[in-house]
Amino acid sequence: MLYIGVDLGTSAVKLLLMEASGKIVNIVSKEYPISFPKPGWSEQNPEDWWEQVRSGIKELVQGSDPSTVAGISFGGQMHGLVILDENDKVLRPAILWNDGRTVKECDYLNNEIGKAKLSEYTANISFTGFTAPKILWVKANEPELFSRISKIMLPKDYIAYMLTGVHCTDVSDASGMLLFDVKNRTWSEEMMKICDVKREQLPRIFESYETVGTLKADVAKELGLPESCIVAAGAGDNAAAAVGTGTVGDGACNISLGTSGTIFIASKNFGVDKNNALHSFDHADGSFHLMGCMLSAASCNKWWMEDILKTDDFGGEQAGIKELGENHVFFLPYLMGERSPHNDPNARGTFIGMTMDTSRTDMTQAVLEGVAFALRDSLEVARSLGIDIKRTRICGGGAKSPLWKKMIANIMNLDVEVIRSEEGPALGGAMLAAVANGEYASVKEAADAIVEVVDTVHPEAELVEKYEKRYQQFKTIYPALKEVYGVISQ
Ligand code: XUL
Repeated sequence: MLYIGVDLGTSAVKLLLMEASGKIVNIVSKEYPISFPKPGWSEQNPEDWWEQVRSGIKELVQGSDPSTVAGISFGGQMHGLVILDENDKVLRPAILWNDGRTVKECDYLNNEIGKAKLSEYTANISFTGFTAPKILWVKANEPELFSRISKIMLPKDYIAYMLTGVHCTDVSDASGMLLFDVKNRTWSEEMMKICDVKREQLPRIFESYETVGTLKADVAKELGLPESCIVAAGAGDNAAAAVGTGTVGDGACNISLGTSGTIFIASKNFGVDKNNALHSFDHADGSFHLMGCMLSAASCNKWWMEDILKTDDFGGEQAGIKELGENHVFFLPYLMGERSPHNDPNARGTFIGMTMDTSRTDMTQAVLEGVAFALRDSLEVARSLGIDIKRTRICGGGAKSPLWKKMIANIMNLDVEVIRSEEGPALGGAMLAAVANGEYASVKEAADAIVEVVDTVHPEAELVEKYEKRYQQFKTIYPALKEVYGVISQ
C-alpha cells in the first residue's frame, strides 16, 4: 500500500509518496504565491493551495500504481484563518501564521480578557499569528464578511474538506487557534463566546492519526485514486514534523528550520510555562508538547541570499565562513516581528556591530548565527522550566546546511541528530495516514519502525565556550532596541 503526505507550507506544498514500510517513493514540490498587502500582513489564496495539491498528487503518483494509494494525510502551516460562506466559497484570502495585523485584538485578549483567563481556557495567550485574534479582526474590519461566515478552518483542513467534504481539524492544529481547550482536547465554550463564534462554524475534532473520511467520487476520479482512499486528520506542520523525525517520546526534541523556526519538545503530560512564552499544544501522537516559534528562520537566509545578495549559491556563500564563534556582527532575525519568546510584532530585522573590515561573509554568518541564537532564546525558556534537553533532531530546508547544523549544535550545546529523510511534515503526514489505515498500531510504533538517525553533530567544548560569550552579547541587543522598534513602527 502507498501513502501520501501533504506538507502544506508557506512557500510551497511538498507531497511525498511512501510505501507502508516507510520507504520514500517520490517527492514533488509545487509553489504558490504569498502576498504581503501591507507591512506585517501575510495572505494566501486557499484556491491556489487546492490547485497545486491536485496537480502535485497527479504528478506524484506517476510511475506508481495509483490504485494502491490507501491513505492521505497532512502537515499544514498552522494558525491561518480560512473562512467559507454557506455555499462553501472562500470569503477572503487566508490570513497566515506570520501575519501581524492583530495587535489591537491581541491587546484586547491579553489585557482586557486577561492572560490568566486565556491560559486557563486554552493553555496559551494571544499572539498576533493565532487564529482567534484574526476572527476578531475580521469582525471589526470586515463585518459584512464576518456575518457570512459559515465554516472556519485551518489551511490543511481546507484541503481535507475539498478531498472528503468533511469539515474537520485535528487536536495539534486546533491547539494554535486560541479557541481550543488543549488540556481536555475540546473547543473552549468561553473562547467561542469571546470571539462570537458558534460551535457549528467550527470543524469536528479528530486525533491526528484518525480517519476523517474517504475521497469524494469526483475528486477520486480527477486524481485517478481509489474512492476507498482514506484521509486522516493530520497535524499542524510542527507536530507532523515531529512525527516525521521520530520526536514522540517524553522529552524528545525537534528543531525545524523552515520559513519559521521552531523548537518542539514532546511531553507525556500536559504543562504550561508560567509566562506562556512557549506554546502548550496537543501532540499528534495523543500526548502534548511545548513549542517556541520564531517567525523568520530559513526565510532570513533566503531573504539575505536572494533578495539582498541576489544569488542562489547558498553553499558558495557559506563556504567562506571559517571562524565560528568569532563574528563581531550580529543579526536579529525579526523580519516579520517575533513570536517566541518576545511576542513583539514591532520587532524588525537588524544588523549590528559592523566595522570597516566587515565582509559579506561576516554578514552571511551573522544571519545564520542570529537564527540559532534566537532559537536558543526559546530553548532557554524550556531549560528554565527544568526541562533537560541534551539532544535534538532537525528538519526543514535549513537543515540541509552542514554549517548551520554545526552552529546549532554549538550555540545550543546539543547533540544534533541527523535523520535519513529531512522531509519532516510531509513524511509525518504520510506516517499518520499509515497509522490511520492500520499499518501501525500507534504513531510511536510507526516512528520506531520508519525513522532512522544517520549521523550526530556533537558540540565541541571550545566552540561552545566561544558561542556562549556571543550568545550573552546577543541577548542584550533586543531589550536595548525594544523601545526603538516601537518608535519606528509608528
Ligand atoms: C507555529 C507556526 C509556524 C507555522 C509555519 O506556531 O506558526 O511554524 O506552522 O508553517
